[in-house]
Amino acid sequence: MTDRSTLAVVETGRGAYGLKPLVLARDLGFRPVLVTDDLSRYVVSDSSRAVVDGCVHEIVHADTRDSVSVREALRGHHDRGELGGVLAVIDYYVAVVAEVADAFGLPGLAPKAAHAARNKLRTRELCARAGVPAPRFARVLSRDEAVAFAQETGFPCVVKPMTEAASIGVRLCRTPEEVAAHHDVLSAAPTDLRGLPRPAGVLVEAYLTGYEVSVEVVTTSAGRQVLGLTDKTLGPHPAFVEIGETFPSQLPVRLQEEATAVALAALDAIGHDFGASHVEIKMTAEGPKLVEINARMGGAQVGRNIKEATGIDLQREVIRMHAGLEPELRATARAASASRYLTALDSGVLSAVDGQELVGRLPGVCDLDVYARPGDRVRRARSNADVLGHLVVRANTPAEADRWADTALLQLTPRVSADEPAGTGTPR
Ligand SMILES: Nc1ncnc2c1ncn2[C@@H]1O[C@H](COP(=O)(O)OP(=O)(O)OP(=O)(O)O)[C@@H](O)[C@H]1O
Ligand SMILES: [Mg+2]
Repeated sequence: MTDRSTLAVVETGRGAYGLKPLVLARDLGFRPVLVTDDLSRYVVSDSSRAVVDGCVHEIVHADTRDSVSVREALRGHHDRGELGGVLAVIDYYVAVVAEVADAFGLPGLAPKAAHAARNKLRTRELCARAGVPAPRFARVLSRDEAVAFAQETGFPCVVKPMTEAASIGVRLCRTPEEVAAHHDVLSAAPTDLRGLPRPAGVLVEAYLTGYEVSVEVVTTSAGRQVLGLTDKTLGPHPAFVEIGETFPSQLPVRLQEEATAVALAALDAIGHDFGASHVEIKMTAEGPKLVEINARMGGAQVGRNIKEATGIDLQREVIRMHAGLEPELRATARAASASRYLTALDSGVLSAVDGQELVGRLPGVCDLDVYARPGDRVRRARSNADVLGHLVVRANTPAEADRWADTALLQLTPRVSADEPAGTGTPR
């Protein structure tokens, strides 16, 4: 067989979000292959089992932390001339996939750029060299170094890991004690969420005070195309949980252009040369500054918002690009879309999410998905991994999408019962 219609997805996100690219790839006529080191991550319910059974042509087992292992696991497909593309859906595998694509001569991001985007220190260094506006930063290798840099740069500051995603471990620290404590928490974990080794040290950064946007860009051999900007809303400190997104941004064109210029300069600085990217920017009193570059399409509901607002199915086009096809990025709609995320205010056991039927009474709600189940242990969100569900609203303008999305979120109340006291059987 020589048709190159096998498309390998190396790991993916959990839940419906993660399975979607496999469904899309199948619908596009590809044979989706899921390369994974742990299928049980994705097969968590009857419905996810049905998607995996119905859409995935083959499960390939490999040590997905290692590009050589992934490459060798796919070598047969490549040598038979069947492998048309390889794709990473979540950040953790962007560099592994770039290396595999490079080794097989498949479309993909330059491995150097992928590594630079995956490592926030490397991004900062390259962007600093290129003069991209960004916060002061230092990679620190000890608690004392962390505190010393924080004292020099000023409080509050941000202490974060270099290779996580979903804002895991990113924390605002207001005092030397908080910096020391968070440094110790981060440096005690040798691997990231998906078991890839974390580089030594943690990042300490000056705190960018401002509001956040992201710039959604697609890069092909024809150049960079900016699909638009997303307005982002964050939850309370000291965490940085993304609780809302609206596309397109409501900012004046001039500010959007300023933010876009910083995002494009950052992509140039790391040598980003292929595929979707999602560049996060803080708008500060001194102008836009780079938060980070994600060398993949925006996660959470960013892609869904783009689709509702413009008609461009970015996920679909990204799959096509990685299979060597020209993406179709022409907008067919001029609307707006907003997403919101449900979080628990308290820690405990979830008994119900009230008000879901009320959301259905509002106009434009095109998705409501509560993933948390009664009986689940929940907590006040520390990262995007803690959100309980999401909703998406489509409207004619971003202002309306925002108002309806906020209103929809207000209808939802997670009922959480207090944690049972630990060790009740053995009172001291
Ligand atoms: N130096 C900083 N100043 C202000 N806010 C920051 C800073 N660094 C990170 N943040 C906030 O924390 C969020 C998460 O940080 P960052 O983007 O670096 O981590 P991540 O885990 O890769 O995020 P993502 O959720 O995009 O995968 C940012 O979107 C931003 O709101
Ligand atoms: Mg980020």
